[in-house]
Amino acid sequence: MTGVATATAHPNIALAKYWGKIESPTNLPAVPSLSMTLDALSTTTSVGFGRSATETEAKRVTALLDRVRIEAGLRTRAWVETANDFPTGSGLASSASGFAALALAAITAAGLEWDSAKVSDLARQSSASAARSIFGGFATLAAGNLDTTFLAAEPLAGTHDWAVAVSVVITTFQPKEVGSTEGMTHTRATSPYYAAWVEHAPVLFERARAAVLARDLHALGTVAEESAFAMHACAMAAAPALVYLSPVTLAVIETVRSLGRSGVPAYVTMDAGPQVKVLSRAADAAHIASVLRQVPGVEKVIVARPGPAASAKIIRQAP
Ligand code: PMV
Repeated sequence: MTGVATATAHPNIALAKYWGKIESPTNLPAVPSLSMTLDALSTTTSVGFGRSATETEAKRVTALLDRVRIEAGLRTRAWVETANDFPTGSGLASSASGFAALALAAITAAGLEWDSAKVSDLARQSSASAARSIFGGFATLAAGNLDTTFLAAEPLAGTHDWAVAVSVVITTFQPKEVGSTEGMTHTRATSPYYAAWVEHAPVLFERARAAVLARDLHALGTVAEESAFAMHACAMAAAPALVYLSPVTLAVIETVRSLGRSGVPAYVTMDAGPQVKVLSRAADAAHIASVLRQVPGVEKVIVARPGPAASAKIIRQAP
């Protein structure tokens, strides 16, 4: 039975980065990735089938809803309402929480009872990072290949037995100029370092996975920095260059390094935007956040802990 459903999902930060897609129409990542879901940020999305649409649905949203319509045998239009409690489109992984929440709200509203893997596969087709936000704690997503027909993220570790935090350092509220899909296509087409990145990323992924399983913050932080800088180096070598980092990003990185030298272990990572996410022990996060708030140009710092899986509820059954 269809109805109206609301789902909440949290963005995730990749500690072993996904950057690059294989040449296929189904949005398959060329490299494996590993992420931590962030509790302090969230997207809430409601979907209802069987009414007229309240707004023009964006193409990527329509594509996901069409997949759900096919699975549920529905032909009715849907309406979608969504809100983030954090800045959208500037490297804070809003596409991850956005498409995870949309996928879960849509299948729930359509009356489909799917397991998390199937919802993750659906979300992945719109945004590969969204596949990981279906799960809480730490999650992984394998690379795809030309024969892949189903690819879901997998949970790696829960949220309660490791006291780590990620401080999200917002350096601008402006949306980024080059989205991740466009950035990845451009990098693959023009960066001389792309092949090296695709070859090296699985090695970084395995190290990150082992570090999470061993609950080894130093090992995880070290490999997370290597992954982030390798991804950015690869993107910067594209022609023309893709430079996502700003002077404020670099000032934050420098401050995190001096915190490390003063005995506070902290590690940086950046996605396709100028924001910095700082991995640390949970007990150090308040201090790290207060130091980073003093860096000129920093707008806001939000401390996040490993967050929960995406969840949904039916608000109303269709009459
Ligand atoms: O799946 P997308 O389109 O949101 O791309 C995500 C790309 C990065 O955020 C840069 C890396 C990642 O693994 O999340």
